[in-house]
Amino acid sequence: MNIHALLISRFKEALTELNAADAPVPIARSARPEFGEYQFNGAMALAKRLKQKPRDIADKIVERVKLDDVADKLEVAGPGFINIHLSDRWLANQCELAIHDPRLGVAKQPKQNVVVDYSSPNLAKEMHVGHLRTTIIGDSVVKLLEFLGHNVIRQNHMGDWGTQFGMLLAHLHDKLQNNQMAETALSDLEDFYREAKIRFDQEADFADRAREFVVKLQGGDKACLALWEQFIDVSITHSEEVYEKLNVSLTRDHIMGESAYNHDLAQVVSDLKEKGIAVEDQGAQVVFIEELADKEGNPAVYIVQKSGGGYLYATTDLAAMRYRSGKLNADRTLILTDARQALHFRQTEIVGRKAGFMAPEQSYEHCPFGMMLGSDGRPFKTRTGGTVKLVELLDEAVERARNLIAQRDNELTEQELAEVGRKVGIGAVKYADLSKNRTTDYVFNWDTMLSFEGNTAPYLQYAFTRVKSIFRKAGVSLADLPIDISLNEKQEHVLAVQLLQFEETINVVGRDVTPHVMCAYLYDLASSFMSFYEACPILRDDTPVQVRQSRLALAALVSNTMALGLSLLGIETLEKM
Ligand code: ARG
Repeated sequence: MNIHALLISRFKEALTELNAADAPVPIARSARPEFGEYQFNGAMALAKRLKQKPRDIADKIVERVKLDDVADKLEVAGPGFINIHLSDRWLANQCELAIHDPRLGVAKQPKQNVVVDYSSPNLAKEMHVGHLRTTIIGDSVVKLLEFLGHNVIRQNHMGDWGTQFGMLLAHLHDKLQNNQMAETALSDLEDFYREAKIRFDQEADFADRAREFVVKLQGGDKACLALWEQFIDVSITHSEEVYEKLNVSLTRDHIMGESAYNHDLAQVVSDLKEKGIAVEDQGAQVVFIEELADKEGNPAVYIVQKSGGGYLYATTDLAAMRYRSGKLNADRTLILTDARQALHFRQTEIVGRKAGFMAPEQSYEHCPFGMMLGSDGRPFKTRTGGTVKLVELLDEAVERARNLIAQRDNELTEQELAEVGRKVGIGAVKYADLSKNRTTDYVFNWDTMLSFEGNTAPYLQYAFTRVKSIFRKAGVSLADLPIDISLNEKQEHVLAVQLLQFEETINVVGRDVTPHVMCAYLYDLASSFMSFYEACPILRDDTPVQVRQSRLALAALVSNTMALGLSLLGIETLEKM
């Protein structure tokens, strides 16, 4: 049930009767319970237009709007707000409907093709914390969009091409000559990269060979390509290890790396030239972007081909844009990278649209995010200043969670403990990231993310087990419970309203790519449940049977909503912990 959308459509009808069908219908959640749950605040703007007093307009709307089934009170307040108080009967009915529906009452949206470009690590190096946010946020957004009924196409735009592969291949070539296996030689990509770089800087002859490798690779030399494939394959395996630990849905099928666009780059440049968008400048092919001129009026310079003939990150992204809009028919393209690439994508969009690489109705949405910082407020590094390997970071999370759970009062077997440790540890890392507004930097802190208090994965996972335990104690399951909800206490009312705001929340997250909105929702829901549980006894002997059943039904909807919400975030739940 989307309460917000329902209210808008009912108000729209009323406005139509007042000959204001085209007027905006601003409806927001009320700031305080005494103002009801929602508030219409469009009367003031309408009053200006119709040259009447806002309160009079508000009165006229109240007379006409048909909400008898939904609300038991509409009141005009202040300068002309209309406060909407939802009725307990209606809320109870809607909750009953949601319980019977595996989708919990959430409607599917008109189906769109949505390309989501996320994770996209660079294969020359080990996957590092810079790719954690895009992987985690991206994977939750694809799950949520799929749930909303969209055709989601995951695109892992891996950095698998570029001049640095020259030195890497030259170095790999030498190692293989010395009878090393590719897997062993590349067991630590960071070390491997460092070694290759040192040789490149210090051995003139090696540097020459590295450059030759670049030429051969670009020229499609068979042996060189085979070597490159070996490198890529081992490096992808490293990423897969991270994906598996994180329990994200990316597989090899989703890889559409930079190299996949090689064949189209020359065409992209020649199309841009033909359309007069790219011009030659000092031997390079360049687009001057007037829209992004600096203060002196100098246009931004966007290079699509270097003077030596080489192509760039930008050229590849233009080819990717054309592929996604043309071949994949993407209605929306979402690209998740850190905010430092924002300008690049703005430029790419301007150039690509001018060239007609995508249609005006197709969206190109760069979803930027801030950096992950250490406790010192600086970019996240190891104690010695090196890059933190993701695999190690995730193992540490599991280890820490396991130790914390072991100290708590529970009767988990060693095996259960390992399982709980994994779900809580990985959940904590993911949730810490998901729950922050993605556009800001965030501080990585073990103690906060693993805390059982506050907006954290352990808190929510634990809250979930508590709801579940009520059913265990009551000895009933949802299946044998008559669903007949009545809302009598304030806490019941609040809980029901929140449960029914699940769809609104999902829709916002799908539109804005903001999983933190879902996190905040689940956290509030869990907190409301706790208040409800305290104020409205369920299992106490003096609770009448019907009241108990009604409350159990509400509790069931809470646990189903939490389970679904958490699973859309990619956070696993447990029965006990
Ligand atoms: N490989 C890039 C990086 O690590 C991210 C690629 C994002 N996607 C894209 N289409 N450019 O920064």
